Amino acid sequence: MSSLTKTRVIAVANQKGGVGKTTTAINLAAALAEQGNKTLLIDIDPQGNASTGLGIDTKSRKHTTYDLVFGDAPATDIMRQVGESSLWVVPATTDLSSADIELMSRARRTYLLQDALRQPAIMQAGFDYILIDCPPSLNLLTVNAMVAAHSVLVPLQAEFFALEGLSQLMLSIRELRETANPGLRIEGILLTMYDRRNNLAQQVEADARDNLGDLVFQTVIPRNVRVSEAPSYAVPVLQYDSQSKGAVAYRDLAAELMAKHGKKHTERAAS
Ligand SMILES: Nc1ncnc2c1ncn2[C@@H]1O[C@H](COP(=O)(O)OP(=O)(O)OP(=O)(O)O)[C@@H](O)[C@H]1O
Ligand SMILES: [Mg+2]
Repeated sequence: MSSLTKTRVIAVANQKGGVGKTTTAINLAAALAEQGNKTLLIDIDPQGNASTGLGIDTKSRKHTTYDLVFGDAPATDIMRQVGESSLWVVPATTDLSSADIELMSRARRTYLLQDALRQPAIMQAGFDYILIDCPPSLNLLTVNAMVAAHSVLVPLQAEFFALEGLSQLMLSIRELRETANPGLRIEGILLTMYDRRNNLAQQVEADARDNLGDLVFQTVIPRNVRVSEAPSYAVPVLQYDSQSKGAVAYRDLAAELMAKHGKKHTERAAS
């Protein structure tokens, strides 16, 4: 368990691809920051989608998550503020794809990110939340994220095979709880790309709520074209179209999360 006292470290993970991990990491981080929470988004996926979605172009990614994990540069040089906001990011590039193999030969291979997050420069930055955008795999990068985290937030696309993949992830979380991270919790299961008119989506939601109960967030993220357009403008949907259904849903998610942790959410005037 991390010794960061006020910081909540949340890994956004699901080994299934394209379920809305990155979209959730970007927009939840932006919504938390909008509420005044100092928030750090760590992109630990070699695809670097979260970094691109926040407008950090590849050329300017001098220091990355690779350097953070392997301690190759001071954390203060690695974290970057997004504009003037309360949002900070550690970007990723494809060099992370070799990290998975390089980690294998390290004695503390599952603890490197946890070690990195415990360094004074990050502790002193005083983040309220650190979100980690994981790759679509249960590889060592994802394991590092889940060992460094207090909890795992699992985006679940409301479609037929959604719940099958979930049991594999739950098993991994249970294993980590018995070994490297006894305090690891499930922050919540988040239904994403939800279409209320679709019977199958409703069925998946009903199954998830029946089987997983309170683990499923009340907030559901609707399928919304503005959400999928925002990354090509290199901004969160909260900024791209502040009143879109997607932006509203991610603000609701931030409020639900903050309420869970006893943080006060302030209503934001519609702009
Ligand atoms: N609520 C939504 N409405 C519409 N499109 C969405 C929504 N959420 C995600 N998408 C789109 O679905 C695709 C997959 O989303 P995203 O990249 O967030 O998934 P991922 O789980 O991070 O994928 P990967 O496993 O490759 O990392 C993207 O094109 C994204 O824009
Ligand atoms: Mg992704």
